[in-house]
Amino acid sequence: MTRMLEVMGINIFRGQAQILWDLSIQVEKGEVVTLLGANGAGKTTFVESVLGVHHPPSGTIAFLGKDITRRPPFQITRLGVSCVPEGRRLFKDMTVYENLEMGAYPPGARTALAESVQWVFSLFPVLDQRKTQIAGTLSGGEQQMLAIGRALMSKPQLLLMDELSLGLSPKITKEIYGTIDKLRREGVTLLLIEQNATLALRHSDRGYILETGRITLQGTSQELLGNEHIRKAYLGM
Ligand SMILES: Nc1ncnc2c1ncn2[C@@H]1O[C@H](COP(=O)(O)OP(=O)(O)O)[C@@H](O)[C@H]1O
Ligand SMILES: [Mg+2]
Repeated sequence: MTRMLEVMGINIFRGQAQILWDLSIQVEKGEVVTLLGANGAGKTTFVESVLGVHHPPSGTIAFLGKDITRRPPFQITRLGVSCVPEGRRLFKDMTVYENLEMGAYPPGARTALAESVQWVFSLFPVLDQRKTQIAGTLSGGEQQMLAIGRALMSKPQLLLMDELSLGLSPKITKEIYGTIDKLRREGVTLLLIEQNATLALRHSDRGYILETGRITLQGTSQELLGNEHIRKAYLGM
């Protein structure tokens, strides 16, 4: 097995407050892993830490065996990590196509632009139909597809998806989750970050539970789906 991501005992502070405590997470190449946590648990802070936005004063983060703990975000993206940010953060006044172009900023991705656009269009045909449309006028589900497409334009090996289902209807969420399986077949390793757990766990191999900045439980998705505490706290059962 190739270790894609290895986060070892990181502590993260924002201002005076410690947000993540001695947090460790591993993701193997080809896996789909879910990080589950309630609002305010520290999920986005974790995503931003992997991306190099926050640097831990202690602990390490390695990507494909390379220490990236102190690297700036642009270098980490260049190595093959990308993210679909919480709330999507599209360039709403730009077209679908222009948003995709914006995602292809690492030099290697730039030269493969046309090919990557075709790849994204094959995954999300609706984006091809709407390529000249202004992003802000797309439906919520289409905007989420565009956010995923933009993240794919940097040709990531590891994709972090921060609350894919946020603000989307159950039907659309299900549709979006269908693309998770496609991405996995395309060889992209996925880390799903969610509050709403049932779908995420059903589409992943393993999961971690984050509670007020600490990993309190981990296991296969099957185990977590069957866990009494998880069912009550995260699955609404
Ligand atoms: N810019 C910031 N400065 C200080 N604390 C922050 C900042 N942003 C978020 N936090 C705090 O960090 C904690 C985790 O936030 P966040 O990572 O956004 O959680 P989640 O994504 O799980 O909802 C929360 O208690 C939040 O109030
Ligand atoms: Mg968040």
